[in-house]
Amino acid sequence: LTAKDSLLPHMKASLPASTLTLLKQIGEIADELDLPVYLIGGIVRDLLLKRQNEDIDLVVEGDGIAFAEAIAAKLGGSIKTHDTFGTATWTTPADEKIDIVTCRTEYYEAPGLLPVVRASNLREDLRRRDFTINALAVKINKENFGQILDFFQGQNDLKQRKIRILHTLSFVEDPTRILRAVRFALRFGYQFDEQTERLAKNAAPMLTQISASRFLRELELLHEEQHLLSGAKWLDRLGVWEALFAYQPTANDWKQLSEVGEQLEAEMEPFLALFVLFHQADNFEQKLQRYALTIADMKLLGEWTHLHSFDTREKPLRELHGELSHFSDLALQLSALLDNKPFLLDYVKKRQKITLLLNGHDLRKQGIKPGPVYSSLLQQLFGLQLDNAIRTRQEALEWLKQAAHKAE
Ligand code: CTP
Repeated sequence: LTAKDSLLPHMKASLPASTLTLLKQIGEIADELDLPVYLIGGIVRDLLLKRQNEDIDLVVEGDGIAFAEAIAAKLGGSIKTHDTFGTATWTTPADEKIDIVTCRTEYYEAPGLLPVVRASNLREDLRRRDFTINALAVKINKENFGQILDFFQGQNDLKQRKIRILHTLSFVEDPTRILRAVRFALRFGYQFDEQTERLAKNAAPMLTQISASRFLRELELLHEEQHLLSGAKWLDRLGVWEALFAYQPTANDWKQLSEVGEQLEAEMEPFLALFVLFHQADNFEQKLQRYALTIADMKLLGEWTHLHSFDTREKPLRELHGELSHFSDLALQLSALLDNKPFLLDYVKKRQKITLLLNGHDLRKQGIKPGPVYSSLLQQLFGLQLDNAIRTRQEALEWLKQAAHKAE
């Protein structure tokens, strides 16, 4: 092996000695079964980039499940097999998880049908993957341990800092790859190769076909990598937002996305980002409903619909409170920022600081019969405290005497 074909120096430098030993042991078990076995995926890319990654994925040219069983029989630990084609997860005695799969090819007999899967060789397995930089493999059989197999010039793209797909239907077959491409590009500071960019743009409308939860999951991953805003802008340049929302965010929408992000008390997570970016789109509520997957998100959307069309002109806080006490801080803050109603921010801020000066016991002592009137009185008191009309417990008790009298 020439130095250029071997990843061994990188492996020795970056992997824990125990991992290296484990890979060698696995290679020897494969030799006994006459199976070619390879380390693949993100870890190979990251070894070349000298980035931390201990996620071990292996492929074998042969029966992955039988191989996983042979490994567990020899080295201990346990195996979990998956329904998917020839896939097993081996939990090592040290409680690490290693995925072992059979080299496979997926092909589509017709668009829209589930792919047909069959066993294949390494090259075919790598070819069905997303990008050249993720399609590198390293042999771990004893002979040529550490040999890099690079069928698609992945190493060159790492040098050129390029995200490149492996075949022209890649984005059509799996449109989530459009978001993955953006995520990897931002993570590594790479650009799209020209053809990849063109095909990503062409395939953007295919994103209407994937489920909202898969789409949000990808946005979540961008968010976890701190690239939600730059990622959303990149997706915009690819035509993704136009395809999904029939709306292209304006310069002002982008500005609001960063400003609202700084001003909200809540984290600017993906659903909220969609909220801010598309709140001006026609049929906004209807369009966003598809992405409101949690109860909190659905509630927020409902609250917004209400607040947005609600006549919430500036008025004494106690009146505002009478109308808005049930709305969440987040909905009110969003409405304040997006609908330009700053007094709502003021209301929320004051509301958060108030502690009621009286409680149910005080009402009881006053001789008021327990019932709905309790919450009504306490709500009124809250409003008066908001307006600083009542500031002390003494004032509150005096107010209560009169209010109780009226309530009778
Ligand atoms: N893959 C793919 N198409 C997808 C998802 C995954 O081809 N839509 C392939 C890629 O080759 C990837 C491998 O499956 O390398 C594992 O997927 P994942 O764990 O998501 O990617 P990693 O490259 O390991 O990414 P990360 O560094 O984020 O863990």
